[in-house]
Amino acid sequence: MDDLRDKYIDLIANAGDEASLEDLRVQAVGKKGEISLKMRELGKMTPEERQIMGPKLNALKDEINTALSAKKEALADAALNERLKSEWLDVTLPARDARVGTIHPVSQVIEEVTTIFADMGFSVAEGPQIDTDFYNFDALNIPGHHPARAEMDTFYMHRAEGDNRPPHVLRTHTSPVQIRHMEKHGAPCRIIAPGRVYRADYDQTHTPMFHQVEGLAIDKDISMANLKWVLEEFFAAFFEVKGIKTRFRASHFPFTEPSAEVDIQCSWEDGQLKIGEGDGWLEVLGSGMVHPKVLQAAGVNPDEWQGFAFGMGIDRIAMLKYGIPDLRAFFDSDLRWLRHYGFASLDVPTLHGGLSR
Ligand code: DAH
Repeated sequence: MDDLRDKYIDLIANAGDEASLEDLRVQAVGKKGEISLKMRELGKMTPEERQIMGPKLNALKDEINTALSAKKEALADAALNERLKSEWLDVTLPARDARVGTIHPVSQVIEEVTTIFADMGFSVAEGPQIDTDFYNFDALNIPGHHPARAEMDTFYMHRAEGDNRPPHVLRTHTSPVQIRHMEKHGAPCRIIAPGRVYRADYDQTHTPMFHQVEGLAIDKDISMANLKWVLEEFFAAFFEVKGIKTRFRASHFPFTEPSAEVDIQCSWEDGQLKIGEGDGWLEVLGSGMVHPKVLQAAGVNPDEWQGFAFGMGIDRIAMLKYGIPDLRAFFDSDLRWLRHYGFASLDVPTLHGGLSR
């Protein structure tokens, strides 16, 4: 019986497919199989012999049946794997490297500006693009009759008749973020506020939507000297030049006193503009010491606190840095332009790794 067992266990283990396994089953435990025939012989045995041989033969039959079904399952698995391999279909697509997206120069420059000011301890503040005329004008010391309201070519939101909520405008500058920030967080503070602004204007250097970055630093003893240092640090880092001279020209803004327009040093040679050298000047921003009335409107005591503010055109400094001649191209969504002037999406600007590559 042991020989019989070894023979079949071995044959089953080596069966190559389900058909030969079925042959083996018939051969061993089928009606006329070797083991079945042996069981029939039990009838001819003495009761004593039968008592020993009966259980043994039954156990053998069970063992063979178990081995058969285990092997059958293994063969089915193998057959399925084989089928999966041959019938496998690649449903993935290769990455379309010919059509990568790019980061818009304006987004890139906002990242660069933020990186530089963050390094000097400024955090980023935000305000709504649709704001009330209080935040956009009144709180900034621009009363209703002030010519600045008309000069800014303001977009007013439509108001239904009988609607007596305060008038809303598309903000004409990022300065209202100064008020909103101080109202909420008080002084001292050090923030920049980059974002979209709107004016009804359109030509080679004006678009109805453009970008500004506001700066605000309020503390006990902040002066114009701090403003000058911060701006010179900023321009040297932004234009990636060693040092850069600035020129402050007396000016007037309702929300600052004194006010200054700031120029940066540049040269024009063979029609090529170079920032940070030569003795030409380029106007880049407006600035000044925050007017006491503005602090007051934002709930900050002007007898206790003072500081500087500035507002700069992001699109303009982007054009200067990356040699983009027409402002309107920024917003045309022309794919060829975007591919040419865009930045690699994973090249996040950092001060240690380089602002632009
Ligand atoms: N808000 C001004 C504008 O849009 C720019 C500006 C000038 C902002 C002087 C300031 C500032 O914070 O101090 O034209």
